[in-house]
Amino acid sequence: MRIPRHLAIIMDGNGRWAEQRGLPRIIGHQRGVETVQTIVEESCCLGIEYLTLYAFSSENWGRPRDEVNALMDLLGRYLKNELETMCRQGIRLNVIGENTRLPGGVRRILEDTIEETASNRRMVLTLALSYGARDEILRAAINLAGQVRDGRIALEEIDESAFGRRLDTGNLPDPDLLIRTSGEMRISNFLLWQLAYTELVFTDTLWPEFGTDQLHAALEEYGGRQRRFGLTPAQVEKKVRNSGEGRH
Ligand code: FPP
Repeated sequence: MRIPRHLAIIMDGNGRWAEQRGLPRIIGHQRGVETVQTIVEESCCLGIEYLTLYAFSSENWGRPRDEVNALMDLLGRYLKNELETMCRQGIRLNVIGENTRLPGGVRRILEDTIEETASNRRMVLTLALSYGARDEILRAAINLAGQVRDGRIALEEIDESAFGRRLDTGNLPDPDLLIRTSGEMRISNFLLWQLAYTELVFTDTLWPEFGTDQLHAALEEYGGRQRRFGLTPAQVEKKVRNSGEGRH
């Protein structure tokens, strides 16, 4: 199986999973957390180096207050429960998004977990929280404009790499594979800059029912794709032969 170096996931369908069973939406989110635990552990075992999960979007603040509070509560509890596992498995926590909007208690747990997992080296788990890609791009643009105004960077020095470094994902490679669950075929303001050449896999499975089998199926689909980055198939095959990738 070809393993992506960076896997990103839009975890969708918790609410529908609960509603289909006549349960409150929050039960769907609770089951969603169990899926997070399974997928984090399996990704780590498979040798994925970067796993990025869309856990709460900028737009999710508009959901009913009870649901927002319940999600924040679940997040805090998840982080407290998982600290030991993260350290045992060598997982480093990272966060992207407009985190100043998060409740103080959750922010503190996040900061503690980031600090306590900082030396772990096996996999970087990035949670996108209060995250919106347009907001992220805008913040990077404002940052650059300020540096140009202050004479700290010349206009001519601004290229894709200089811009990319100012995004929240500045220290992460671009995702190789994006999975979105629940049958929706949208990007929904997630990693708009970083997904330029990412392979996309959509599955009808709702997030609470997404397990290791579904992850493996998505990886199989990814393995069958030829990533061309704008080149022709012949050019790509030549590149692969020259890099020796074909011999493995
Ligand atoms: C989408 O389902 C999911 C979310 C908005 C939040 C995802 C959150 C979790 C899986 C739990 C908390 C996360 C962590 C990392 C502990 P939806 O509610 O949009 O489902 P619907 O589209 O069926 O309504």
